[in-house]
This record gives sequence, structure tokens and C-alpha cells, in this order.
Amino acid sequence: QTLVSAGGIFELGFFSPPGGRTYLGIRYAGIADRTVVWVANRNDPLVSTPGALRLAPDGRLLILDRQNSTVWSSPAPTRRITAGAVARLGDDGNFLLSSDGSGSPQSVAWQSFDYPTDTLLPGMKLGVDFKRRLTRNLTSWNTPTDPSPGQYTFKLVPGGLPEFFLFQGPKKIYASGPFNGAGLTGVPNLMSKDFIFKVVNSADETYYSYAITNPQLRSRFLMDGTAGVVQRYVWTNGQWSSFWYYPTDPCDTYGKCGAFGYCDTTQAPLCACLPGFQPRSTEQWNLRDGTGGCVRTTNLSCGAADGFWPVSRMKLPEATNATVHADMTLDQCRQACLADCSCRAYSAANVSGGINRGCVIWGVDLMDMRQYPAVVQDVFIRLAQSEVDALILSNRVLLHGDFAWSTIWTAVHVDELG
Ligand SMILES: *[C@@H]1O[C@H](CO)[C@@H](O)[C@H](O)[C@H]1NC(C)=O
Ligand SMILES: *[C@@H]1O[C@H](CO)[C@@H](O)[C@H](O)[C@H]1NC(C)=O
Ligand SMILES: *[C@@H]1O[C@H](CO)[C@@H](O)[C@H](O)[C@H]1NC(C)=O
Ligand SMILES: *[C@@H]1O[C@H](CO)[C@@H](O)[C@H](O)[C@H]1NC(C)=O
Ligand SMILES: *[C@@H]1O[C@H](CO)[C@@H](O)[C@H](O)[C@H]1NC(C)=O
Repeated sequence: QTLVSAGGIFELGFFSPPGGRTYLGIRYAGIADRTVVWVANRNDPLVSTPGALRLAPDGRLLILDRQNSTVWSSPAPTRRITAGAVARLGDDGNFLLSSDGSGSPQSVAWQSFDYPTDTLLPGMKLGVDFKRRLTRNLTSWNTPTDPSPGQYTFKLVPGGLPEFFLFQGPKKIYASGPFNGAGLTGVPNLMSKDFIFKVVNSADETYYSYAITNPQLRSRFLMDGTAGVVQRYVWTNGQWSSFWYYPTDPCDTYGKCGAFGYCDTTQAPLCACLPGFQPRSTEQWNLRDGTGGCVRTTNLSCGAADGFWPVSRMKLPEATNATVHADMTLDQCRQACLADCSCRAYSAANVSGGINRGCVIWGVDLMDMRQYPAVVQDVFIRLAQSEVDALILSNRVLLHGDFAWSTIWTAVHVDELG
């Protein structure tokens, strides 16, 4: 027996992968593929079947085994449950317990969308709800036939600017790039014709969510435990086709070029040092291992003899430990960076609509940068002024007549005046 959503798009029921364990899950109903998109009891499989799903009088959903023992229970409901309470599977794939049966947002006592498994469906949130103390992450299945948690997790790491990380166990292996108000700076093709995404970053919650403009389209975002990648699939011509996946290329590997290094797929070797920096170990660098990163060519003075050099085509450095001042102008940001000896770089915190707002200050090593063909936003790297002068000079020679020259020079010139 299954529960089928009103439009026949999803169904909820028990399923038993090979191995003798049974789970309650949600899967597609209207298409030939029966991919499971959510599992209730991934940590608590049923071993004696048949199983039963019951709505207890206290408002908890229970999974009972053959002996009527509870093997899984939803948390205590957050609303007072009335006799009219109803649990219903929606056409969006959300299994929702409404305290009064109305289904209104105010009546939600529990919903499967708050407890993602390995799949993000349109309308689900990936992130942290600070008010409700909910962490919504995607954790891979252990194996294709075992829904228990596997080694890969894709999740938000809060702090500074929001950013999503792919972890293999405790190790970061990929990062989306910080959110700068306009996009995730490491996911250049996040936006497309059929998808709308949003990143919300407020005091109450921080999350990523996406919607599909074409209601006929089926799409899922999967933490794939076999390939170790996050994939967005769309259902076309009777099969799932991969719309994109990350990490995609070697430059997506987290921290590929170490501190103050950046990666560029169009150059060999892939790793280079930021202007004003040199490889920490030339030996290691020559062996094409950039993870040791880069060190300054000239030390900072920590005073007036420091300046800034803008780089503009970069995935922003990891900013989870950076400090964000939402109300500062870019000029105030520069002053704040100069006044703080530990500041290594600054940038606008929000460039939505092409307008610089706020300030982000990196008091930590600049990690996980890569270069893109298109301008992302300016990051101002703190250098000894003598290095800045040398860079201005060499760029005048190298980029003479080029549009890039005038942008770079203008930015530096403003800095010199400011
Ligand atoms: C389990 O509960 C159902 C419904 O209350 C009841 O009909 C059934 O006999 C019970 N089974 C056992 C093994 O106790
Ligand atoms: C993912 O979120 C769940 C709670 O929803 C939590 O129990 C688990 O520890 C999280 N996993 C990671 C790796 O953060
Ligand atoms: C960025 O600025 C715009 C315009 O003021 C605002 O609507 C948006 O909420 C800001 N985004 C973040 C993440 O602060
Ligand atoms: C630069 O700073 C490092 C670390 O503080 C120090 O070891 C080194 O001697 C300094 N170099 C110069 C040229 O002052
Ligand atoms: C950020 O801070 C955390 C906790 O102090 C630390 O483990 C991590 O390495 C830091 N990350 C960076 C990029 O500095």
C-alpha cells in the first residue's frame, strides 16, 4: 500500500533493497523511474515486516514493525495537534503533517522537507535554520542499495559569507564559493532558463533553494555517493540526464593551490600565485603540487607602507572565517583593512545588481581561489606598497592598450588617492 500525491507525481511507501532491510521512502510515481528521493528511517531499518506507518495521538509519526514495536519516530510536533490533524504527501514531494488538517504554513507540525536525505527537490532548503536549530544537509547513501548515511555530505558552513561545502568524512573536497548577493562565486552556471535559485542569508536562517519555471519538468539535486559529486538531474526522453555536477574539473578540488594560490584550467601548471606572492616551495610547485601555497615576496609593513592590488576574475576566497560588515562602504572597508594588521584582503560583501554594498575582510589566509574567464568581482589583496608599484609598472608594459589595463589601473589609482 502506498500514499500517492494528488497529481500522481510522488508516492510514499515501504521499499526493500536487496539485503533484507525495509525503509519508508518517497519516490517518483508518474515516471518510469522509481528513484527514491527521501527515506524516513535511514538509520533505523525495519527487519521484521510488514511495517506500518501510524500517526500517534501525540502527533508523532511512527514506523512500527511486525510486532508493533516502534522502530522510528518523528520528533515531537512543534504545534498543538487537533483531532483534525492530517499527514499528506504533496505533489512537490513533501510529506507534511498539518496540526489541524488545513495544510497552512502555520499548521506545519512536521515535514519531510526539513529532514533531507541525499536529494534536494525544488522548494527544499539546504542550509541552517538558526531559530529552529535545524541543519538541512544532503548525505549520500552508503551504497546504491543501502540508504544509511554514506561518507559524502553537502552542506552550508555558516559564518562570514555563506558557502556550501562537499565533505568526504571530515575532509572538505569541494566548495561552491562564497555567496556574494548575486551568485555562488564558484558555480558560474547556477542560473539557467528553467531554474531559479535563491540564497537567503538572514539572522533567522541561511539556505539555498531552487525552483523550476516549467512545472512539467522533473528535477532533482543529488549527493551522489558513488561518484562523490553533487549532481543536478532533469528527466528528459524517459531518463535522468545530468544537467551539471560538481566538482567538475581539477580546479574545483578544494584548496588545490593552497593559501594565496589560485587555479586556472587554461594554464599549465594549473596553479599560480596571486600577484605579489611566490611559491612556498619551488620544489613542490615544480612537481605540480600546489597545495603548499604561496608566500609574500615582500613582507607587509602593517602601516601606511601597505597598499592593495585588485584581482577580479576569481572565485572568492573561502570566507566562512572572514568578517562581514554589512553597512560599510568599500572605502571604509579599505580603511578597516589597513587599520587591522591581520587583514589580508577586502571586498564588497554584496554585489547584487552590480552595486557594491557592505564589506568583507579576510583576516585569514586566502584559500580556494580559481580564475574564471569572466569578471566575478574585485578582491583587493593587501601587499607592500613597493609590490603594488612594481605591479602597476609591469601591467602598464604588459597590458598596454588593453581594456583590462584601464580597469586595473583605475582601481589602483583610486586606491592611491584614497
Ligand atoms: C498490532 O496493532 C494492530 C492495530 O492496533 C493490531 O490489530 C495487531 O493485532 C497488533 N499486532 C501485534 C502482533 O500485536
Ligand atoms: C546532517 O544533518 C543531520 C540533521 O539533519 C545531522 O544529524 C548530521 O550530523 C548532519 N551531517 C553532517 C555531516 O553535518
Ligand atoms: C544584497 O543587497 C540587496 C539590495 O539591497 C538585498 O536585496 C539583498 O538582500 C542583499 N543580499 C544579502 C545576502 O545580504
Ligand atoms: C618576513 O616575515 C617573515 C615571517 O615573519 C620573516 O621570517 C622574514 O624574515 C621576513 N622577511 C624580511 C625580508 O623581513
Ligand atoms: C576557519 O576556522 C576554523 C575554526 O577555527 C578552522 O578549523 C579552519 O581551518 C579555518 N578556515 C580557514 C580557511 O582559515
